[in-house]
Amino acid sequence: MSFEESERLESVPPSGIRRYFELAEEYDDIISLGVGEPDFAPPWAARDAAIGSLERGQTSYTPNRGLRELREEIAAHTSEKYDLDYDPDEEILVTAGASEALDLAFRAFHDPGDKVAVSQPSYLSYVPGATLAGADVIDVPTRPEDDFKLTPEVLEAAGAAEADTLVMCYPNNPTGATMTREELAPVAEFVREHDLRVFADEIYAALSYEHEHTSIATLPGMRERTVVFNGFSKAYAMTGLRLGYALAPPEAIEAMNRIHQYTMLSAPTTAQHAAIEALRNCESDVAEMRAQYDRRRNFVLSRFEEMGLDCFPASGAFYVFPECPWEDSDAFAEALIEEQGVAVVPGDVFGTGGDGHLRVTYATGLGDLKEALARIEEFID
Ligand SMILES: Cc1ncc(COP(=O)(O)O)c(C=O)c1O
Repeated sequence: MSFEESERLESVPPSGIRRYFELAEEYDDIISLGVGEPDFAPPWAARDAAIGSLERGQTSYTPNRGLRELREEIAAHTSEKYDLDYDPDEEILVTAGASEALDLAFRAFHDPGDKVAVSQPSYLSYVPGATLAGADVIDVPTRPEDDFKLTPEVLEAAGAAEADTLVMCYPNNPTGATMTREELAPVAEFVREHDLRVFADEIYAALSYEHEHTSIATLPGMRERTVVFNGFSKAYAMTGLRLGYALAPPEAIEAMNRIHQYTMLSAPTTAQHAAIEALRNCESDVAEMRAQYDRRRNFVLSRFEEMGLDCFPASGAFYVFPECPWEDSDAFAEALIEEQGVAVVPGDVFGTGGDGHLRVTYATGLGDLKEALARIEEFID
């Protein structure tokens, strides 16, 4: 008996982003603009609710789909904020992060040989998630000249018409791109015309700075073919509490829950209590964090402009995606860590279409951001 990896796993490489984190760990005085994680603590009221639930000994499993009270709050919140109306009993599944929900969806709806079109550059888990479910991935590289927005042209050119599922993420990690309702309309038309289902990762929905977030599920004919993913990691700075959710029609949630009930049983109970409070009483905390991210975004964009680095005006999440001044963005990122102690991530780590760019995260205090950008400027000069 040996631990020979399955063929599916063999085709999944180790995460490309880790190399830069490990390299950064070798040096002192590193400023990291690499990690996609809020630098804030969760709102105090949410932490207090978590502590209170522990003090009361509320640490048993919850219902598979999540505490009913939480599902009701999620339904009210997504309805009010994004016009997403989902039934708390049948159309919401609470998961251990949006990550778990994505994994469940890949496994629930794909057979070997099914095709999953992934809009790229993209968050690192989609391609492995689809591959581990046995599906074949179609890369859909979005283009800098479209500000990394998805269009019917890039979908067509990539052969996405043949796909079963389209995975998309706006506001986007790693580019910071967002899409308006008008921009989503032709994408939705393509999806309907070719009868695709959509996995819409909207975990950064609360962090859209130039316009209200629109979910593609709210466009005509899209609700019945879309799974929406969201969670508490980004907007509420609750990454380590591991809580997310999926919104989808009853038959989709039922299928995803059938895996979840065996593999996870229920999402973390303490985090669910924190999340109820977060949704009920922490909107002003979210607004304050959003305002700070927005100030930092404007600062970073203006500094890159001063340096003469081409950088489209990213309008969501907490990333900007400037062009790399060197041809080899891996070499640039490595040298920047070694010589200036600043960590960024080369764009090609995030798939086709990301090459020639750098992902720079502004989930870092303004003081560190100023220093890091001064070091980048010196390095480029
Ligand atoms: C686009 C995107 N989706 C999902 C996740 C993971 O979210 P969670 O912490 O809820 O699993 C991340 C984390 O970086 C992300 O950037």
